[in-house]
Amino acid sequence: MIKLNVVDKVYRTDTIETTALKNINLQVEKGEFLSIMGPSGCGKSTLLNIMGLLDKPSSGKVKIEELEVGTFGDRKLAKIRNRKIGFVFQSFHLINDLSVLDNVEIPLLYRRLSGKERKGRALEVLEKVGLSARVKHFPRQLSGGQCQRVAIARAIVGNPEIILADEPTGNLDSVMGAEIMDILMKLNKEANTTIVMVTHDIHLAEQTQRIIRLFDGSQVM
Ligand SMILES: Nc1ncnc2c1ncn2[C@@H]1O[C@H](COP(=O)(O)OP(=O)(O)OP(=O)(O)O)[C@@H](O)[C@H]1O
Ligand SMILES: [Mg+2]
Repeated sequence: MIKLNVVDKVYRTDTIETTALKNINLQVEKGEFLSIMGPSGCGKSTLLNIMGLLDKPSSGKVKIEELEVGTFGDRKLAKIRNRKIGFVFQSFHLINDLSVLDNVEIPLLYRRLSGKERKGRALEVLEKVGLSARVKHFPRQLSGGQCQRVAIARAIVGNPEIILADEPTGNLDSVMGAEIMDILMKLNKEANTTIVMVTHDIHLAEQTQRIIRLFDGSQVM
């Protein structure tokens, strides 16, 4: 489903050069649920961004379903992202001027669906994450954990084949965290959704099929 071949990522500014990823080789199979762990700054978000086509490696190759995406332009990348990938960002990336419902409908705007169908699907996933009572709220009227759940609803609303989740339970208490984990496990089992999750929680990571550990940009055993 996702294949990374000798991927390096170096961030360069005029004065500093930061190596965020070094020699990453990784293959994620269709239907796999894996987690990425490692200390702060080790490159987890960078790795997820590259897998999700939000960022390009400095060198190395990225394949999504055998598509060599390195040569693709931004429009083509955006299309693949919208069709195939649901992203849960570490900092949510919700749109403050839109209600919860409208935020969740965003990924569906690029599909051929009526407004009614969009709303129906958005309400369905908001119910899954326990936010049916908050659909008309705006992000600033929500707690951090609630924002996180909106972000998860938005990531799953389009039934993506791949979900990339950057600490999807980082702002939740253990009960809510377990509920979100259940939602992800269910998507993985029932819809065969491929999931890559960054987490600091070893108990959650141990529930996934494989743990990738990063240290200083390199994969460690
Ligand atoms: N846009 C950028 N420009 C320069 N350096 C960056 C940029 N983004 C990330 N980095 C650096 O790359 C390294 C990896 O960052 P990344 O965000 O991937 O870490 P992380 O493992 O997700 O950390 P955390 O657990 O704190 O979220 C860090 O040292 C960071 O400072
Ligand atoms: Mg991060």
